[in-house]
Amino acid sequence: MDGANGSVVSEFVFLGLSNSWEVQLLLFLFSSVFYMASLMGNLLIVFSVSTDSTLHSPMYFLLANLSFLDVGVCSIAAPRMIYDLFRKRKAISFGGCISQIFFIHAIGGTEMVLLIAMAFDRYVAICKPLHYLSIMSPKMCLFFLVTSWVIGLIHSLVQLVFVIDLPFCGPNVLDSFYCDLPRLLRLACTNTQELEFMVTVNSGLISVGSFILLVFSYVFILFTVWKHSSGGSSKAVSTLSAHITVVVLFFGPLMFFYTWPSPTSHLDKYLAIFDAVITPFLNPVIYTFRNKEMKMAMRRLCGRLVRYRKIS
Ligand SMILES: *[C@@H]1O[C@H](CO)[C@@H](O)[C@H](O)[C@H]1NC(C)=O
Repeated sequence: MDGANGSVVSEFVFLGLSNSWEVQLLLFLFSSVFYMASLMGNLLIVFSVSTDSTLHSPMYFLLANLSFLDVGVCSIAAPRMIYDLFRKRKAISFGGCISQIFFIHAIGGTEMVLLIAMAFDRYVAICKPLHYLSIMSPKMCLFFLVTSWVIGLIHSLVQLVFVIDLPFCGPNVLDSFYCDLPRLLRLACTNTQELEFMVTVNSGLISVGSFILLVFSYVFILFTVWKHSSGGSSKAVSTLSAHITVVVLFFGPLMFFYTWPSPTSHLDKYLAIFDAVITPFLNPVIYTFRNKEMKMAMRRLCGRLVRYRKIS
């Protein structure tokens, strides 16, 4: 094993998901299909919203930004995992490991704040419809966007500042398929109890806190819709249930990772695949299959592409 004599560990080795050839093949097919589908689905949303003028409203701009983040989320760990599946020695450099952690937390944190902005957008649209365009002005959208990125970056950097200086001298095997803090900290050859607590507080609080905030705001909005129920309310309920589904799917596995005391190795590894490829895939499915405007915009986009191919 590298660095057994107190020298510095320069790379980490993943144990991966399974040693059985059949399971690896199954995981390969499953992850590649979902990864490609997430990539295409989210890019399709970004292109539809930016090219179709009927979708130029705050809700769709925020949705396109969520899709843009999802392209990032599914590209952090999944391609490497797929590439690693059939490699005997799944090694990653120290820098590679740190950058995975950086992007997971930066993009994940940004996405959480963006989901809160999307809930606020629905609150204004449903509870203050007459002031919608003046409250959710382009300036406000930009403000939400910048705030999300700033909070995501701070959340990520605050944790990495402490990790980057940790001494790694002994074992370098991670029982996982990507780098993340709880497992990495356990490999440091120093007492990391305080750091582990800081990570649990930082990641646990941001995920549980945003989740509770989101649940409360959606319950509040649903209550308002129900109280003033009229002809338009079924469309509002359908949009809201799409948002709530995304929120539950996104936060469920995360809260489990960061707040469960000691990870039971296999369950949390497979849950991690869920967050890596399936959640980013579900966002476009949930938002487009239930949304007439989005479906029509995509049909128009496909029509344009077909026409373009015929001309050229
Ligand atoms: C994100 O939102 C901003 C502001 O509303 C918008 O101008 C931009 O096009 C969106 N980004 C993407 C990738 O759709």
